[in-house]
Amino acid sequence: MRIVVTGGAGFIGSNFVRYVLGEHAADEIVVLDKLTYAGNLDNLRDVAGDPRYSFVQGDICDPAVVDRVAAHCDAIVNFAAETHVDRSISGPDDFIRTDVIGTHVLLEAVRAHGVGRFVQISTDEVYGDILAGASVETDALRPSSPYSASKAGGELLVLAYRRTYEAPVVITRSSNNYGPFQYPEKIVPLFVTNALDGQPLPVYGDGRNVRDWIYVDDNCRALDLVLREGRDGEIYNVGGGNEVANLDLTRGILAELGLGEELVRYVTDRPGHDRRYALDCGKLRTTLGWEPQVAFAEGLARTVTWYADHRDWWEKIKSGEWRRYYERQYRDLAI
Ligand code: NAD
Ligand code: DAU
Repeated sequence: MRIVVTGGAGFIGSNFVRYVLGEHAADEIVVLDKLTYAGNLDNLRDVAGDPRYSFVQGDICDPAVVDRVAAHCDAIVNFAAETHVDRSISGPDDFIRTDVIGTHVLLEAVRAHGVGRFVQISTDEVYGDILAGASVETDALRPSSPYSASKAGGELLVLAYRRTYEAPVVITRSSNNYGPFQYPEKIVPLFVTNALDGQPLPVYGDGRNVRDWIYVDDNCRALDLVLREGRDGEIYNVGGGNEVANLDLTRGILAELGLGEELVRYVTDRPGHDRRYALDCGKLRTTLGWEPQVAFAEGLARTVTWYADHRDWWEKIKSGEWRRYYERQYRDLAI
């Protein structure tokens, strides 16, 4: 199968590329990525010499480049997105552009070229927060942030293309991923790398917001299954089944590094901060036989070790654009 992976130079996309090339000897992958601040060719360095892999730098909102890559592929897996909730609050424009309009450009290419499968990578955040129980795929969408509203908008276009044009689409909604190559703006890599440098860990609000954590390899295995065996028009939740409050996550990271809580700082809460997400993944389990394999304690230990062993990867990132963003976002820390 020849697969176009958009956003393949980001966190989950690069892990997915590695996973597919490792599992499917006959597959070819073309990564289409704009290389925004979050895209990084270092994430793909180990596959760069593989003859089955190629890279095109381009924007999913640009119909010309999308048309060129879509013309010769069997499937498109769309990871490309603006992904950080805090950045969507300070500047939503790029989110609406990439996550909504970019998805539309891709769907038009699917239609024009008769692409056999389109996988839209979405998020549990489209459900909004849920204080008890777990979200199922048929629940209403109640996104809270400009990020999650843009992702919901992208999804609705995907579903409209199914209904109207019978496009061969599937959607996944996953919970919070963690693992190697995650840009150090998200809580896990930010806190691990700050702790390694003896810098403060800025916990929003009371630290009691809950996220469900999934090790990135478990998500990649689910996405690969959905790509090959998912039913057209279906939506699949993909969660790790690990509900953890932010403060407990923070303590877990510090414990892995043998540190106490001296670095923890409570800072101003995120506006509109969703309190809790939880996913019911029964559909993926019963229809495609997927189960997460990496226990949270094991995944966190692996992740902390990876960042400790790959200072060269994140020290390069934590300068220029990253530093300007950090100083803007975490003004409280300077007080
Ligand atoms: P990321 O921010 O690490 O990477 C995003 C990638 O998309 C980058 O390589 C970037 O350069 C590229 N990109 C951005 N705009 C583009 C554009 N206009 N054209 C082409 N490429 C563009 O993101 P991630 O965390 O790997 O997330 C990947 C996908 O998974 C996203 O769609 C996100 O909404 C979804 N998702 C992420 C998580 C998570 O926990 N990280 C959970 C659920 C869903
Ligand atoms: O749930 C899936 C989503 O998970 C994905 O769709 C998003 O792309 C991804 O970024 C992630 O969104 P979150 O907002 O949950 O991730 P983040 O790492 O930004 O925050 C996780 C929790 O930690 C959240 O409750 C806010 C809190 N937090 C985050 C940061 C960056 C802090 O307390 N301090 C911080 O500095």
